Amino acid sequence: MAPPSSTPVVTRTGYQNFGSFFTENVEDLICIPKDSYIAPEPPFTPPSLGDIATLDFGEPCRQLFNIDFENWTFINHGAFGAVCRAAHQESNQWREHCESQPLRFLDRQLFPHMVRVMREMADFIGADPRDLVFVPNATTGLNVAIQAAGLRPGDTMYMLNIGYGSVKKMAQAALAAAAGRGAGTAPAPAPAPGADITGGEAPGDINVVYGEVTFPLSSPRDIVDLVAATMPPNTRLAVFDSVTSNTALVMPVSELTRLCKSRGVQVLIDGAHALGQLHLDMRRGICGGTYHDSGSSSSNSGTKGDGHQTRPLQQVGSPATASVSSTAATVEAVNIAAATATAADVVADVVADVAADVAASAGPQGSAPGNLVSPELDCVPDYFVSNCHKWLCAPRGSAILWVAPNRQAFVRPLVVSHGSGCGFTSDFIWDGCRDYAPYLATSSALALWRLLGPPRIRAYCRGLLGEAVALLTARWGTTMLAPFLQMCGCMALVELPRAGLAETEPATSTDAKYVQDLLHHVHAVECPVKCIQGRLYVRISVHIYNILSDYERLAEAVDRIAASNSPSQAQAPDPDPAPNE
Ligand SMILES: Cc1ncc(COP(=O)(O)O)c(C=O)c1O
Repeated sequence: MAPPSSTPVVTRTGYQNFGSFFTENVEDLICIPKDSYIAPEPPFTPPSLGDIATLDFGEPCRQLFNIDFENWTFINHGAFGAVCRAAHQESNQWREHCESQPLRFLDRQLFPHMVRVMREMADFIGADPRDLVFVPNATTGLNVAIQAAGLRPGDTMYMLNIGYGSVKKMAQAALAAAAGRGAGTAPAPAPAPGADITGGEAPGDINVVYGEVTFPLSSPRDIVDLVAATMPPNTRLAVFDSVTSNTALVMPVSELTRLCKSRGVQVLIDGAHALGQLHLDMRRGICGGTYHDSGSSSSNSGTKGDGHQTRPLQQVGSPATASVSSTAATVEAVNIAAATATAADVVADVVADVAADVAASAGPQGSAPGNLVSPELDCVPDYFVSNCHKWLCAPRGSAILWVAPNRQAFVRPLVVSHGSGCGFTSDFIWDGCRDYAPYLATSSALALWRLLGPPRIRAYCRGLLGEAVALLTARWGTTMLAPFLQMCGCMALVELPRAGLAETEPATSTDAKYVQDLLHHVHAVECPVKCIQGRLYVRISVHIYNILSDYERLAEAVDRIAASNSPSQAQAPDPDPAPNE
């Protein structure tokens, strides 16, 4: 072995970090002000992203992914995401590096690099790095947050019926545990009359209240009104999605959070789909959709019976100049059957939306410590969780949990390890010896987004989504589940034709599964089919590699399935129709 060129200086100091790790204290590293922080250099040259900043979206972006586009029409990014090639390669580089000298990596290099990536992520989402930690997936973050809420017997946890299936089970487990019975034991006596509005998933067992959303929706305001009317006074925790899974709706989480805060209710935002799909600015509480009441007479404003005018869902308000003419041109072609907008309104609103996205992205996103969450901001949630592996295209096994500074003392990791009790960062940075490459390689996914430009990406995806919706609704003579401009990000539900697809009227989840199976096995089209209120919908996703012909292929495949009119091989009803996506 070659001797070192100069003798390293080794000083006699005790352990700085928790346990017996040989690194600086992570609580100190995470606090260093942005302008004095010196990021450690990766021990290898990370994958080159070349000059992707000039790459056109669509076909040219396919080279950035490993997806088998030759053989598959892939329009289901929303399910489990797809890692970009660069992040996949970087995760493998970290694994190779680890195995070349495991102690050097795990004992001495891992934590400083984890802190580096946490700081990069904080910059990306407008957060203080001290307020976010990595967790393996959204499920873990959601479990942590629900436990931190400190639910006690008699408390209510509130969510919507369109919330994620596994979160409903988390609610049951948490409240059963709070009642001292443990999850999975015999049901408790029935709650007080009227406590459970919908009956929930296990009537009489626990005090979880679901607000019942019914379709069609005319505006995000319908959701806010529903929550205002149905959230009981003893609610301790409310959980809302940034973007719902089965119904693909961008939720007005700013207004929902504001409403909860005015009633002293803790708020957990399930942003599993948020990172990448939506502009995030955690210091300002921006982690989902919002809308603005307006006195204007814009013809695509939803008008409720109470006289409220609603503006289309936007993420941030301040206007800015942005070059979005191609988006506008694309969207001009959109014929959105379910929306009440004229083409001119559609264009104007998308321009405003994208301009706001640009303005917001250009705003202060620094990571200077100081827990800068403004106390006057009443739309800042208590907890926010997002997957990195979905829309951001990081490797699977990477998600973030953001916690408001005043709630961090109540948060405990699910897995107790060496850093436990040493601070929020320490609590989560190490949960035992395992593969940490997905967290570290999230850096390459962030680099890809920074180079391509988040507002540009979202403008492309929304523009193409609008075209795809127009194509499908025109071809099938159907509508969408909710207003496109007001409630869609990069996914949308489009109703399938009624003839030839469902065996029964109303349709069932068995019909949905059968059509999805045929799309997958016979037509090589990966696209989920949902059954909502007895009707079948496709949930289409758009990412930077998608092109309009993907949705034309979907349309052709559906038409062939409908024409063959062969839904006779009906199976037994699916016992758990809530898909894992
Ligand atoms: C809204 C929502 N919440 C939570 C999850 C769970 O995510 P994960 O399985 O990555 O933990 C998903 C998954 O798609 C989701 O859509």
